[in-house]
Amino acid sequence: MIRSKVAVIGQGYVGLTISAFASKHHQVVGFDLDPRIVAQLNNGVSHIEGVDSKDIEKAVNSGSYFASTNSSDIAGCNVVVIAVPTPLDNDRKPDLSFIDSVCKIIGENMTGPALIINESTSFPGTLRNYIKPAIEKYSKQKFDHQYAISPERVDPGREDFNQKNTPRLYAGLTPDATTRTRDFYSTFCDNLVEVSSPEIAEAAKLFENTFRQVNIALVNELAQISHALGIDVRETLDAAGTKPYGFMKFQPSAGVGGHCIPVDPSYLADVAEKAGVEATFIKRANEVNLDMPKYIAGRIAKDNGGSVKGKKVLVVGVAYKPNVADTRETPAELLIHALHDLGAEVSWSDPVVESWHGSKSSPLSGADISVVVTKHDVVSSEEILMSAPYVFDTTGKVNGATRL
Ligand SMILES: NC(=O)c1ccc[n+]([C@@H]2O[C@H](COP(=O)([O-])OP(=O)(O)OC[C@H]3O[C@@H](n4cnc5c(N)ncnc54)[C@H](O)[C@@H]3O)[C@@H](O)[C@H]2O)c1
Repeated sequence: MIRSKVAVIGQGYVGLTISAFASKHHQVVGFDLDPRIVAQLNNGVSHIEGVDSKDIEKAVNSGSYFASTNSSDIAGCNVVVIAVPTPLDNDRKPDLSFIDSVCKIIGENMTGPALIINESTSFPGTLRNYIKPAIEKYSKQKFDHQYAISPERVDPGREDFNQKNTPRLYAGLTPDATTRTRDFYSTFCDNLVEVSSPEIAEAAKLFENTFRQVNIALVNELAQISHALGIDVRETLDAAGTKPYGFMKFQPSAGVGGHCIPVDPSYLADVAEKAGVEATFIKRANEVNLDMPKYIAGRIAKDNGGSVKGKKVLVVGVAYKPNVADTRETPAELLIHALHDLGAEVSWSDPVVESWHGSKSSPLSGADISVVVTKHDVVSSEEILMSAPYVFDTTGKVNGATRL
């Protein structure tokens, strides 16, 4: 493909990752509303795990990438990639307000036709029934834009799978959009999977994370059943995992976190309901995972004479997964609330996150009770075991602790 002028809207986990790969082959402007992130990026500093500052610095110095808060900088781009948050609102319903604001920015600033690709996760029909009409509504001039979807599958912090070798789904609203999308991604992705419509790609993305949410809930329920029966859940799972077909092992945990697994299934449940199907299974899985922190707090209280009132409880690891600083939707938050509700004095320790909700990470010592939500590689099991006389481990990684 000839070198394109690409605007990547949103320079977070997804957008910056795409920018880093795309700028090796194209001219990229990374647009974001956050001036702090933009300034940092233009100084060659990445704020995202898995995106090396050296790559950003090199791209900035070579002139193939710059970040901007100025929406007019996207004018004249022939490819626009949308990578902004698609969270839930207070009623746990899809919140497309970020997408809407991007459609306005695109509509108001484009000066010619472009291929507009959505990478943000949303329900089937978002590209066709929401993004295209919104951009057309906001456009001052009528351009013949092409529209496509290519949902992102990046797993922050993961090294074995990246943009190059992770299979990427894609589909355009028209055959031309599909071809152009393939040409664009083929410059930096080796494994492209074309599907017959944008709705298939959108639904597949939601189902991938719903599959994880449901299976994690199932194994969390098994953890509760196993404890009640006096059986070790992890040994049971290891045993079941010896079956070479028809079984996939998931691990029990304090719940699910991040921007995807706790959120995407609710997008699927919502669109299902609007289509007249009640997604009871998906909703129940969400409830089971959201209830895990309460269950864990109850177990800890039971093991400690029936109460944690007045006890110093240290929550170890508040990132939603190991070796990243991302605390979005972390189950640690619900666990802290549950322990507070039982009267505990709760603090948290996480050297990767360092500061969270305006407070700083506490030292990993001096607690009555420690409870491990996430174990980063830089925190040793020995340190955790020394931090309190009673340690409850939800991760299965701290030998010698009381296990979920
Ligand atoms: N994080 C992941 O692992 C992951 C994986 C696959 C898919 N996704 C999906 O990708 C999308 C983006 O997620 P993310 O994790 O990159 O989010 P993020 O919060 O890390 O980054 C989003 C960025 O968009 C910026 N932004 C918000 N509104 C904007 C606007 N109107 N114009 C320009 N910039 C704007 C924010 O300042 C932020 O820097 C979501 O739909 C998410 O579900 C995320």
